[in-house]
Amino acid sequence: MKLLIMGPPGVGKGTQANRIKNTLNILHLSTGDILRDEIKINSNIGIKAKMYMDDGMLVPDSVLLQIVQQKISEPICDNGYLLDGFPRTIPQADGLEKIMQSINHKLDYAISLSANTDELIERLIKRGEESGRNDDTPEIIRNRQKIYWEQTAPLLEYYGKKGILKDVDGLGTISEITNRILEIIK
Ligand code: AP5
Ligand code: MG
Repeated sequence: MKLLIMGPPGVGKGTQANRIKNTLNILHLSTGDILRDEIKINSNIGIKAKMYMDDGMLVPDSVLLQIVQQKISEPICDNGYLLDGFPRTIPQADGLEKIMQSINHKLDYAISLSANTDELIERLIKRGEESGRNDDTPEIIRNRQKIYWEQTAPLLEYYGKKGILKDVDGLGTISEITNRILEIIK
């Protein structure tokens, strides 16, 4: 099973991906997590990505496509994966399609989680106060939401037209939402 999970910051992509990967026994590939790991080791990719991430801006498409191409071409990915937070732009989606075609992979579903913006901002401000990422500050949280609607939301139509988009209500308890997703993809 090859899946992607999309939705605005704070909607629960990472939370749900972690649960679904265990149930389906597939890999969870979060581009946000991969980029944060690159920042930790101070790699060239990390140094470049940090400038964008600290402001809540998208890291350039070429960087993301290079990362994803390398990851999903590994033999372990033939069994299946769940892309979390990628693609985020139309060029990334086109690039993903080309990469997948070249290795004979087919995307089964694009799961789109949704929730109202007030709820999302509340969740992320709470996380910012408790554990917190660099980009969990009120100003950057708002910028991340804005970028989602400007640059990523067009992918809803993109995957809708391909007939693989599945809308899932992202409000409710974490396990209710997992069950909604599993119901759709089983
Ligand atoms: P990324 O790491 O993907 O962050 P994001 O999209 O901003 O989303 P989050 O990870 O904050 O939220 P989430 O939807 O995963 O929710 P979570 O499960 O954590 O990207 C970070 C940055 O990296 C980007 O801004 C960009 O700079 C760069 N980047 C990454 N990918 C890129 C790409 N493809 N192209 C370009 N740049 C890229 O949950 C959030 C909180 O809510 C948690 O505290 C959780 O416990 C809580 N929660 C979860 N579910 C529920 C629930 N049902 N009820 C109540 N609380 C809940
Ligand atoms: Mg996440």
